[in-house]
Amino acid sequence: MTLTNIDHEKQIYCFKVFYAFLVVLLLRMNNPCIGCSEREMQALLAFKQGLVDDDNSLLSWGREVQNKDCCQWDGVYCSNHTGHVVKLDLGDQSLEGTISPKLVELQDLEYLNLSLNNFRGSQIPDFIGSFSNLRYLNLSNAKFGGEIPYQLENLTRLEYLDLSSDEYGWFDDSIYAKNLNWLPNLSGLKHLDLSSTNLS
Ligand SMILES: *[C@@H]1O[C@H](CO)[C@@H](O)[C@H](O)[C@H]1NC(C)=O
Ligand SMILES: *[C@@H]1O[C@H](CO)[C@@H](O)[C@H](O)[C@H]1NC(C)=O
Ligand SMILES: *[C@@H]1O[C@H](CO)[C@@H](O)[C@H](O)[C@H]1NC(C)=O
Ligand SMILES: *[C@@H]1O[C@H](CO)[C@@H](O)[C@H](O)[C@H]1NC(C)=O
Ligand SMILES: *[C@@H]1O[C@H](CO)[C@@H](O)[C@H](O)[C@H]1NC(C)=O
Repeated sequence: MTLTNIDHEKQIYCFKVFYAFLVVLLLRMNNPCIGCSEREMQALLAFKQGLVDDDNSLLSWGREVQNKDCCQWDGVYCSNHTGHVVKLDLGDQSLEGTISPKLVELQDLEYLNLSLNNFRGSQIPDFIGSFSNLRYLNLSNAKFGGEIPYQLENLTRLEYLDLSSDEYGWFDDSIYAKNLNWLPNLSGLKHLDLSSTNLS
């Protein structure tokens, strides 16, 4: 082999490495939400499945090719660092039904707004207590019923908690609390609204 031959092969090698690097870079640019995992997508789809969505607010939530990045779905926001779902903003979307327990998979959730929907008197799910990163929780005017789960005591990072309702007694089983023993655990709380909650 002559010297120029070796040089030539080196050049080809360098070009190949550069090319591979470019492909990886382009793939990443096309897909900035590398973190919206299959698991999170499944959780969101299960959540959708438990709801009646007469206004088609969740139309973008699907498995079609153009929708396969769940960070682009309406009301869903992902962390720019980790790609995980950190925010669900679904207030006032005419959603009706109950919350799928699969939602618990969204362990990075910091912000959950389900206000002004209709959860048909169902209980606030206990598993909300496992969203340990939650800072904002708004379930106001969402027609939840039954006892406020004491598991809220786990939400030690919570800054905003709104469980209020404007329609006190709209059904027999309005939201109530036997005690508020869980409240002192929420030491970061800046805003609390429990109006119309039955505390008797
Ligand atoms: C991610 O960055 C975009 C653009 O800067 C911003 O609009 C969006 O709010 C950020 N997402 C979160 C969850 O902070
Ligand atoms: C939560 O949703 C309600 C209803 O759409 C809206 O009024 C409220 O501003 C939202 N909260 C925040 C902090 O965006
Ligand atoms: C929660 O949502 C209601 C809409 O039902 C809104 O009026 C209220 O300001 C929100 N609470 C907080 C703490 O953002
Ligand atoms: C609340 O926190 C405790 C202690 O960290 C844990 O054992 C429990 O499973 C948590 N409860 C929920 C509903 O996540
Ligand atoms: C809530 O506070 C009580 C009293 O300080 C403590 O014993 C309990 O472990 C706390 N619960 C959680 C889940 O942090």
